Amino acid sequence: MTDEKAPVITVDGPSGSGKGTVSQRVARALGWRLLDSGALYRVLALAARRRGLALDDEPVLAALAGALDVAFEERPGEEGVRVLLGGEDVTGELRTEACGEAASRVAALPAVREALLGRQRAFRVPPGLVADGRDMGTVVFPDAPLKIYLTASADERARRRWRQLRAQGVEADLAALYREIAARDARDASRKASPLRPAADAVQIDTTGIGIEEVVARVLALAAEAGLAPAVRGAGS
Ligand code: DC
Repeated sequence: MTDEKAPVITVDGPSGSGKGTVSQRVARALGWRLLDSGALYRVLALAARRRGLALDDEPVLAALAGALDVAFEERPGEEGVRVLLGGEDVTGELRTEACGEAASRVAALPAVREALLGRQRAFRVPPGLVADGRDMGTVVFPDAPLKIYLTASADERARRRWRQLRAQGVEADLAALYREIAARDARDASRKASPLRPAADAVQIDTTGIGIEEVVARVLALAAEAGLAPAVRGAGS
């Protein structure tokens, strides 16, 4: 059951700002649940493509969003969550640039966002939730007691993505990645439905040139200050 009282830390920001890793580590440090809301938009885009649906068919995509058979599995010792679509592990497929691009398109449709609201709010269970996305603090959990907004320059975010792909053995063109990131940012920030923007009460952290550990430590310190977590020493491991 959803518990409206369970605390939520929202972590919003553009892709490559480090919010995925930061959210995972903060959730793990606190022993809280994790919502990777981008994965929901990605899995919807994947399901739509597999069915050959147009990515701008709002009523059809909203109906699909409401009926999606999707499950998230956190496995001990593994970073991130595994995503199952109809029981099939699609985690790898979701991380491709093509899927991110398609997700950004379906995410621009208001009826799709509306259809996914209840699913996202259902993650809010004791002892607490770390919610990673674009509109966690502004729309999905506006009453969250701690809201974080992570940024980094587009240049740095493209380099992070490039290194990530290289580590996975994927050759990528840095300039092309930069263009894709800038285009996706522009679409996510300019759309009418829940555009990417910091909540008025969000704490903004620019992660350009800062290590992930330091960002995690800052978020945990803010959580402690807000009375959401015990003060943690050497946070982030
Ligand atoms: O965080 P991500 O790269 O996995 O997100 C994929 C796309 O989904 C992104 O381009 C914007 C969209 N998205 C969104 O609109 N709202 C969210 N809460 C999360 C993601």
